[in-house]
Amino acid sequence: MEAAAPHTPAEPTPPANSVELTVTSPEQMRELGRRLAKLLRAGDLVLLSGELGAGKTTLTRGLGEGLGVRGAVTSPTFVIARVHPSLGDGPPLVHVDAYRLSGGLDEMEDLDLDVSLPESVIVVEWGEGKVEELTEDRLQVVIHRAVGDTSDEVRRVTVTGLGTRWTATDLTVLSA
Ligand SMILES: Nc1ncnc2c1ncn2[C@@H]1O[C@H](COP(=O)(O)OP(=O)(O)OP(=O)(O)O)[C@@H](O)[C@H]1O
Ligand SMILES: [Mg+2]
Repeated sequence: MEAAAPHTPAEPTPPANSVELTVTSPEQMRELGRRLAKLLRAGDLVLLSGELGAGKTTLTRGLGEGLGVRGAVTSPTFVIARVHPSLGDGPPLVHVDAYRLSGGLDEMEDLDLDVSLPESVIVVEWGEGKVEELTEDRLQVVIHRAVGDTSDEVRRVTVTGLGTRWTATDLTVLSA
């Protein structure tokens, strides 16, 4: 009898379509948003995570510029979601700050956004564990303040495409 093959741990996840970038200023973060916008189309969901002040809204501002939508992207204190209609014929940007959203998707649906989510680009800050059920295809962006001997403005950004929507997309264009 053959010796049992050494136990190989199961693959935790299928190979992720992922890039890691270093961003060194708020302006570069906006530029990353503008580049990201070129990859997005109606129905896409982008989840942004990272601690307070990481740069999630700054990235979204660039996204709004790249998509060519109306109104400045801000982080209003009392508004959970805001719709920015396209100035052209592109999809609207729905910007959600889920920080105060505890009930997940149901609560989000209750927001009565008056837009069709499949026809919008949806960007959600603080959405982990809350909005994943919207779609299994999503772009996950994680922003970390770099630690160590770096300036206050250095961020490490990981962009991961999940689901079939993203398998054929080359995310390395983001670091160009
Ligand atoms: N590399 C950088 N990228 C983005 N923002 C930066 C960077 N360096 C410094 N900043 C500053 O950090 C702050 C980021 O604020 P922003 O509102 O974008 O963060 P946030 O992640 O949305 O925070 P919150 O969790 O409160 O919503 C801004 O004041 C910005 O100028
Ligand atoms: Mg924010």
